[in-house]
Amino acid sequence: MSVGIDEISFYTSNYYLDLRTLAEVQQTDPDKYYEGIGQEKMGMAAPDEDVVTMAANAATPLIERVGADAISTLMFATETGIDQSKAAGVYVHRLLGLHSNCRVVEMKQACYSATAAIQMACALVARNPEKKVLVIASDVARYDLDTPGEATQGCGAVAMLISAQPRLLEIDPEVGNYTEDVMDFWRPNYRATALVDGKYSTKIYLKSLKKAWEHFREVSSLAFDDFGHFCYHLPFSRMAQKAHQHLAKLNKAGLTMEQVEAQIEDTLHYNRIIGNSYTASMYIGLTSLLENCKQNIAGEKIGFFSYGSGCVAEFFSGTVVAGYEKFLHREQHKQMLDARKEVSYEEYLSLYRYPDPRDGESIEIEEGTSGRFRLAGISHHKREYVAS
Ligand code: HMG
Repeated sequence: MSVGIDEISFYTSNYYLDLRTLAEVQQTDPDKYYEGIGQEKMGMAAPDEDVVTMAANAATPLIERVGADAISTLMFATETGIDQSKAAGVYVHRLLGLHSNCRVVEMKQACYSATAAIQMACALVARNPEKKVLVIASDVARYDLDTPGEATQGCGAVAMLISAQPRLLEIDPEVGNYTEDVMDFWRPNYRATALVDGKYSTKIYLKSLKKAWEHFREVSSLAFDDFGHFCYHLPFSRMAQKAHQHLAKLNKAGLTMEQVEAQIEDTLHYNRIIGNSYTASMYIGLTSLLENCKQNIAGEKIGFFSYGSGCVAEFFSGTVVAGYEKFLHREQHKQMLDARKEVSYEEYLSLYRYPDPRDGESIEIEEGTSGRFRLAGISHHKREYVAS
C-alpha cells in the first residue's frame, strides 16, 4: 500500500520587502542578495499574523475539500512557538473546526520537524489506511537587524494531507539520517530572534547532506541517477544550489552545471520571493516544483534533503503520482503571491518592531492581514484568534 502526500497548500503574508530596498539602505550591492544568496523578496508577517493564523490559512483549502471530520491527527511543526505548553495546533484545531476526537501535537527540531511529522504521519496511516493526517509546518524567520542573516528572513506555512493512495507523492519508507550536537543556529527561550554562526551553518548543512546521503545509500537501492529532481531545505536559494552541486560531485554524476541546476531550479521560484520559512520551506519548494515544472513529472523519483540546525538531517525519496497536476492549488497560490503589497524600509521596520508583549500586557492588534484568520489581541496572557 502506498502512503504519502495527497494534497498540499501554502500561505504567506500579504507584505514583502524587496531586497533591493534593504541593499540600498545598507549601501550594499543588490546583486549580493539577488545573485549571491539567490533571494529577491522576503515575506513580512502582518502584526495580526503568527504561526497559528498562517497555518489555518494554509490548511483551509484542504479542509474545505475533505471536510473537518476527516482528520484524525493534526501534527504542527514549528520553531516559532507561541507557548511553552499548549500546542499551537490546538488553536488551529478550533479555527478549522476539526473533530474533538482528532489528536493534536506540536513538534520541534529547527527546520527539520515537518519531515519528522510527515514520517510519523505516514506510519500512522500505514497502520490505519482509512485515516488522514494533517501535517502543518508554519514559521516566521527573524534575525537581528544589520546582521548577515537579516536578508534571509521570511514567513510562511504549508499544509499537507497525508493519506493512503495519495494523489501527489508516494513516500518511500527508506530514510537516511544524520544528527550531531552543534551550535550553528539556535534561539534561546528569552530571545525573539535567532542566533546564528552563518558561515559555520552552511558548512554543517553540507556535511549533514553528505552524511544523510551516505546513510540513505546504505538503506535504499536508489542511486543519484535514479532521481529526476531534488528538493532541499531552503534557507536561501543559493544554499540549495551549492548543496546540489556538492551532492552531484560526491556522486561523480557526470552532469554539466546546467543539468545539475535544472534538477532543482523549479523548487526555488516561491522561496526566492518569500524567504526562509524554516519548517515550511522545503515543502513550499516541493509545491513550487509540482506547480511550475513545465514537463509532466509523473512517475519521477524526487530526492528530499531536510535540514534543521542544531542539527538533524534526513534524506528521503518519493515518487510523483500520475495525474498529480489535477490536484494542485496553482492558481490560488499565484493569486496570493500576485496580490502581495511591497513595503518601504520604514514600513518594514514598523512590522519588524510591532509590539510582541512577553509580559502579559493586554493589547488590541491592528488589522493588517488579508488572510481569513487573525490574531485580534492578547488579554490576560491569552491569545485571541478570530476568523473573518
Ligand atoms: P554574508 O556572510 O553576509 O554573505 O551572509 P557573503 O559575504 O558570504 O556573501 C554571500 C554570497 O554572495 C557569496 O557567495 C558572495 O561571494 C556573494 P559564495 O561565496 O557563498 O558563493 N556576493 C555577491 N554576488 C554577486 N554580486 C555581489 C556579491 N557580493 C557578495 N555584489 C550568510 C551569508 C549565509 C552567512 C547569511 O546569509 C546568514 O547568516 N544567514 C542565516 C543562516 C543560514 O541561512 N544558514 C544556512 C544553513 S543553516 C540552515 O539552513 C538552517 C536554518 O534554516 C535554521 C533552521 O534550521 O531552523 C537557517
